[in-house]
Amino acid sequence: MSLDGYLGSGTRRRLLMSNDADFDRVDALRAGCDAILVGAATIRTDDPRLTVRTRERAQRRVARGLPPTPAKVTLTHRADLDPRARFFATGDSEKLVYCGSAQVETARARLGTVATVVDGGGRVDVRRMGEDLAVRGVQRLMVEGGGTVHTQFLTADVVDELHLVVAPFFVGDSRARRFVGDGRFPWNPGRRATLAEVRPIGDVVLLRYALSPRFRLEED
Ligand SMILES: NC(=O)c1ccc[n+]([C@@H]2O[C@H](COP(=O)([O-])OP(=O)(O)OC[C@H]3O[C@@H](n4cnc5c(N)ncnc54)[C@H](OP(=O)(O)O)[C@@H]3O)[C@@H](O)[C@H]2O)c1
Repeated sequence: MSLDGYLGSGTRRRLLMSNDADFDRVDALRAGCDAILVGAATIRTDDPRLTVRTRERAQRRVARGLPPTPAKVTLTHRADLDPRARFFATGDSEKLVYCGSAQVETARARLGTVATVVDGGGRVDVRRMGEDLAVRGVQRLMVEGGGTVHTQFLTADVVDELHLVVAPFFVGDSRARRFVGDGRFPWNPGRRATLAEVRPIGDVVLLRYALSPRFRLEED
């Protein structure tokens, strides 16, 4: 996020916030996960690939019997997603779309050839989605935004670890999304989160918070 807590620009233009060294750190984290999740708006705005970029890391996954890149997961109410988006078009891994029941048939018609569409119920509940992902073999899920999604995972208290990277500039435009929206967070003035690590990475800084007993520092 920016110094003023934003995740991107206030326009539909993608804003890269990190530096090469931090993108490489994120690549290593992705390689260690079973699945990567972003909200549908992030697919529409950023068109991310969400693959493991480094060939050696992808090869190490394959040597462990895993697909070269983790599964990709998104959630949507409206099902307004383009099957040609890089989320669906790149990587050999499984793609999962958790869709609210109202539009699940639309989602299947639009995305059924490029993804598995799961009926997520009236409003997709992230805890239930996590349980369903676990049944599908996902033990370690990396959530990469945006703010709407961060808010739901954090307020549902299902996050083990938070990596917050602060970029050295301001966005200064309240049309942009903040790191989180309003909500009742389990960490508040009465219950402070545990700061596990602070790491400068070039001109950005990584703050790591342990948010559950499952957090293990040595995993990064
Ligand atoms: N700096 C970073 O690291 C980073 C990372 C990711 C994103 N971003 C930025 O974040 C911004 C997007 O964030 P955002 O908060 O607007 O969107 P988001 O969290 O990416 O996606 C929100 C969308 O996800 C779907 N959704 C969320 N919760 C749902 C639920 N419980 N059930 C069903 N569908 C659900 C809805 O999709 P539908 O509208 O399709 O129904 C909703 O509009 C962009 O500017 C992007 O560039 C930055």
